[in-house]
Amino acid sequence: MSYLELRNLQKRYTKDGPLIVDHMNLSIEKGEFIVLLGPSGCGKTTTIRMISGLEEVTGGDILIDGESVLTRKPKDRGVSMIFQSYAIWPHMTVFDNIAYPLKLQKLKPAEIKSRVEAAAGATGIKGFLDRYPRQLSGGQRQRVAVSRAIVVKPKIFLMDEPLSNLDAKLRVTMRTELKRIHRQENSTTIFVTHDQAEAMSLADRIIVMYRGKIEQIGTPAEVYRNSATRFVASFIGTPPTNFFTVKIERTGDGLAALCSDFRYRVPPSLIGALDPYEGKEAVLGIRPEFFGIVPGMERGESWICDGTIDFVEPQGSYAILITHIGGAEIKIVSSEFLELPLNTRVALTVKEAMFFDPASEKRIKP
Ligand SMILES: Nc1ncnc2c1ncn2[C@@H]1O[C@H](COP(=O)(O)OP(=O)(O)OP(=O)(O)O)[C@@H](O)[C@H]1O
Ligand SMILES: [Mg+2]
Repeated sequence: MSYLELRNLQKRYTKDGPLIVDHMNLSIEKGEFIVLLGPSGCGKTTTIRMISGLEEVTGGDILIDGESVLTRKPKDRGVSMIFQSYAIWPHMTVFDNIAYPLKLQKLKPAEIKSRVEAAAGATGIKGFLDRYPRQLSGGQRQRVAVSRAIVVKPKIFLMDEPLSNLDAKLRVTMRTELKRIHRQENSTTIFVTHDQAEAMSLADRIIVMYRGKIEQIGTPAEVYRNSATRFVASFIGTPPTNFFTVKIERTGDGLAALCSDFRYRVPPSLIGALDPYEGKEAVLGIRPEFFGIVPGMERGESWICDGTIDFVEPQGSYAILITHIGGAEIKIVSSEFLELPLNTRVALTVKEAMFFDPASEKRIKP
């Protein structure tokens, strides 16, 4: 049995308004770290507010530990939520902020004290219990919010972009901290973000959400390698996937994807799946690191066309090479060519590619 289950969950904010959360189905196991990833406005906050009980559902059901929680008040659902703004009280000390939910539960002072100290110890702020929030750095305030969420020992943690107020370096540090706390507490967590790099580095499984619907659920490697839709392929990975509208044509015993500027030979493993597209259009997706470049203009098996490297953006251990195919700007990631003279002519090769149906935008799979 799953620990948290969403069954056909739906949300409209007004009676005739749009479906903001559109028949969402999801099963989460105990102890999983799930990241809900999607662009601004796709319904992430709405979804976790419904789970926490802060927002009413329009349809469907939410089960925690096998029981529907729709009729339970937020405080009786066993969930703790951390908000983007932390929502810690400025007029209370760190101790009182963390102790607040325990006081609501009317626990004895001695137990409150020991649990607050344990929670503050887990997040590394035990030395700051007497301070007020204004005397803390952003990262320390964030830890107060995390401590207050873990002190109640919730069944499920809901975190809504908890790192977005922090500067880039602190985000990365706190990311590792949250992962460590998660391992230590073995808490079931749903973490919301629109930052795909954050999602990739934190998640056991990523739920990619778009326009109120789940586009794909999978491990970070699965959503990256086996993107189920054009949207997932475009949203996961930086720089993003390069897309081309191509025509599928027969060539002897195989198929080729043609556009005005290149011809890509369809790999044997995909010929069966692309057969129905012969004479029709498909969308070809090539990740920046799936391109290869050959400065010697050698046109081997995987050659698609010649190109000019307009300029190079060094990134340290790799470089982003900018070229163009047809009118479109193309980004190539290379760990081999970190420096190239301006306007170098190269042969472009393709090591791997994805095809999508132009109408449904779903991946065309073998
Ligand atoms: N109280 C509300 N009343 C009406 N519409 C709302 C309300 N809250 C959110 N919406 C709408 O629902 C949609 C989803 O909002 P939601 O806050 O869930 O998005 P999100 O994925 O969390 O986005 P972000 O990444 O920007 O936080 C948006 O179009 C938003 O305008
Ligand atoms: Mg939000």
